[in-house]
Amino acid sequence: MATNVNAEALKELPVPEHHAAGKQTVDPYNVSGEVGEDGVVKAIDYSKLVEEFGTKKIDQALLERFECVTGKKPHRFLRRGIVFSHRDFELILDRYERGEPFFLYTGRGPSSDSVHVGHTIPFEFTKWLQDTFDVPLVIMLTDDEKYLFSEKRTIEEVQGYCSSNAKDIIAIGFDPAKTFIFSDFEFVGGAFYRNIVRLSKHITLNQARAIFGFNDSTNIGRIHFGSIQGATSWASSFPHIFGTDEKKTAAIPALIPCAIDQDPYFRMTRDVSARIHYAKPSLIHAKFLDALQGPGTKMSASIDESAIFMKDTPNQIKNKINKYAFSGGKVSVEEHREKGGDTSVDVSFQYLRFFLEDDDELERIRVAYEKGELLTGELKAICIKELQTYVAAFQERRAKVEDKVVDLFMERRPLQWVGNPNAARVVPVVDGAAEGAADGKEGGDGKLTKNQLKKLEKQKMIDAKKAQKAKEKEEQATKAA
Ligand code: TYM
Repeated sequence: MATNVNAEALKELPVPEHHAAGKQTVDPYNVSGEVGEDGVVKAIDYSKLVEEFGTKKIDQALLERFECVTGKKPHRFLRRGIVFSHRDFELILDRYERGEPFFLYTGRGPSSDSVHVGHTIPFEFTKWLQDTFDVPLVIMLTDDEKYLFSEKRTIEEVQGYCSSNAKDIIAIGFDPAKTFIFSDFEFVGGAFYRNIVRLSKHITLNQARAIFGFNDSTNIGRIHFGSIQGATSWASSFPHIFGTDEKKTAAIPALIPCAIDQDPYFRMTRDVSARIHYAKPSLIHAKFLDALQGPGTKMSASIDESAIFMKDTPNQIKNKINKYAFSGGKVSVEEHREKGGDTSVDVSFQYLRFFLEDDDELERIRVAYEKGELLTGELKAICIKELQTYVAAFQERRAKVEDKVVDLFMERRPLQWVGNPNAARVVPVVDGAAEGAADGKEGGDGKLTKNQLKKLEKQKMIDAKKAQKAKEKEEQATKAA
């Protein structure tokens, strides 16, 4: 079995045959598992993807390093291997430890008026990373992409989806002081456009074809789009956040949480970054929440029966799970009681792995289902309840997001953040970041904030005390000798 996106694509390789019938395909435009000889789509083989994309698996050592640097228990997505792969995440942890700047970047292609539960995975995780690291976050809405990659959608339609999707994203709980959301149609220009062109100059048509599988009939907007999604990885695209000194901003990397389908854009960007001496973006990849129909496909915003949408009513959730959720149970109750169910393919169980916080409870459910003590209907009922609770809490927050809140998140403005409060020294971001900003605001203006100064003073005192103690010890040791 082979995936169709070539990890070495940037090296001017011949164009691989994309989306060859029956093969596993994972790229920004297609996600499907291998089709077996029996015609059944298999689950996505994520180990194979790690190998072929050239990423690294997140292992126990990295999780321990994360916990040591942040003092935080890894998120359930990390504990359960849902966020499973990365590129240079360890470098971000090193920067955090040293108090050096970086930022978070993620995005959404507004293809419908509501996001589905699958889309909330990278956003939930990004929020948690923002809370953990206390760094700026940019969220890109690729309205241009969703126009270019659809035969039917109009510009007006995708722009309309932008504001409803922005509300969905805000309802995840991002901090407005640290978050900038933008739509490509609104924001492209200035420093951002310079970076887009800079990136596009370093990508040949051959490379774009090799990475994304374009052919001679592909419209040129699609071919160029990668440079827009890629250029957002560079801090210098956001002078209102990071300042105007490109010598300094070029060194500030992004950490990009996303599902693994988005990796090709950033593999390409990392290659160009290295060539033009810009910081390479780091990535942290999630697996897909399967479509209701089962493993091997991801939920699709344009197929209603494939997904639970964040606007669905409790009844719709119940009906969709009961009617469509693929079951790993046996055909009869007797057989199920005797042989037990298969949790690895059971969609309800898989959804619980994503959303149920309690590890012990999840383990109890797994064991009971695999032993046949828990029936499919009972498992579905647990899943329905969990999803109804998750979606209802989201809808409550979503109802409070007014248009003016969206305007606030989407306004070009300096952001405020602190970074690692325990770092020995916090490296100031850059000069000139507060262009046009009100005076006296904390953070984002290149100077240390009051908080940072306080922490710095405190750290100096701790260091001085430590040095004094070490000196005393040394003196005692000399005396003793
Ligand atoms: P989009 O709108 O297809 O998806 C938004 C985010 O959700 C992830 N995703 C999923 N994660 C888990 N389970 C699923 N079933 C599922 N479906 C989608 C996607 O990987 C993505 O992280 N081109 C992008 C928008 C974008 C972007 C970015 C995304 C621009 N810049 C940087 C991530 C990072 C898109 O159309 O995403």
